[in-house]
Amino acid sequence: MSVSSRLPRFYDLAPDQRRSSLIQHSDLSSDDEAVLAQGLTLEQANRMIENVVGLYGLPYGIATNFTVNGRDVLIPMVIEEPSVVAGASKAALAARQSGGFQAEADASLMIGQVQLLQVSDPEEAVAAVTREREAILAQANSKDPLLVSLGGGARDISVRAFGDSPAGPMLVVHIICDVLDAMGANAVNTAVEAVSPLLEQLTGGKANLRIISNLADQRLARAGVRIRPSDLELAGWPGPTVVRRIVEAYALAAVDPYRAATHNKGIMNGVDAVVLATGNDWRAIEAGAHAFAARDGAYRPLSRWAVGKDGYLEGDLEMPMAVGIVGGATRVHPLARLSLKLMGIEHARQLAEILAAVGLAQNLAALWALATEGIQRGHMELHARQVAIAAGARGEEIEMVAQRMAEEKQVRLDRAQSLLAGLRGEGRETNE
Ligand code: MEV
Repeated sequence: MSVSSRLPRFYDLAPDQRRSSLIQHSDLSSDDEAVLAQGLTLEQANRMIENVVGLYGLPYGIATNFTVNGRDVLIPMVIEEPSVVAGASKAALAARQSGGFQAEADASLMIGQVQLLQVSDPEEAVAAVTREREAILAQANSKDPLLVSLGGGARDISVRAFGDSPAGPMLVVHIICDVLDAMGANAVNTAVEAVSPLLEQLTGGKANLRIISNLADQRLARAGVRIRPSDLELAGWPGPTVVRRIVEAYALAAVDPYRAATHNKGIMNGVDAVVLATGNDWRAIEAGAHAFAARDGAYRPLSRWAVGKDGYLEGDLEMPMAVGIVGGATRVHPLARLSLKLMGIEHARQLAEILAAVGLAQNLAALWALATEGIQRGHMELHARQVAIAAGARGEEIEMVAQRMAEEKQVRLDRAQSLLAGLRGEGRETNE
């Protein structure tokens, strides 16, 4: 079925109505609807990690309006922060008027590192490793015949010498593996462990670390978008002004790491939420993103924004995206499996492309708000609901307390408690 990511009034529905609407508008089945309602079971969790004593729930929401490479896609997001899902959906709606996001991802090349110490002749060791490339690749592939039979496996090597380090001189050999549809940590760690005895023999050194690198700079994903100024205008903010102010806001991130960190945090709000929804390793994605952002010695934004010749807002993003659709929790967690089905993902690269588009959309949503009316107005209502709940509001009380605090622009726990007491006739409401 061809999916439309336009789900008007989805926001206004109750969660069970949203689930029914999702089933109607996607390839999910009624069995999936039950999975959505149930989530992870304790039994499943008990097989995932050690010493399980319970489950920790997080909201699972759907961002609408996304078009990526001409295909409509509904985006599952797992996140505790208000406004992220709404922001992504709003930015995606503006983008879809001009064709949505274009995205692409590299092949799934991951790097494994072998650290070699006590190498007496580093120059000769580098030459020996380079000379024996084929034997090293064959050895790396010997322990993973399944990956090799599917067309993946070790592809290349590189070797570097560090003349000085806190542990003296050392060599590091990189084994570059195509891990296909996996995140790749298992495959790469198997490969580097398999080659280390051969590397010790070739270099005369002693192997210590044998582990994947999370700086996955050979597995990048990119997304781009062009947006018509009129699709960005807000009350009191003409489109061309919004475009200019977004580009000015980006410019601070381009020159200042204090801003670049926050700019990238906004990107990761979107990326991490989808990474979590698909059962992928968000710490690996975070590590890769920030190391890549600092790759030339200064910490830089992962996206760029400019005004096009025709006045359109033009944005692009590039970052490492080591995500898989097999292995880890991606097939074990029932909602991770469902998330991949919802997005129609058949290959890891497709997921990487969508993640890059979501990161760019989330960044746009943040800059759009920040460069115009500021972030607090949009945050206020959802934040007010959380504060109302924290004060003990239940059912209809939540909306009533939250709305009043938002109107008053006084979103504070003590105010929520006072309003709640007033609602319940406890005579404690004050009119500050
Ligand atoms: C908040 O979670 C994220 C933002 O700070 C991102 C940004 O400033 O670009 C709004």
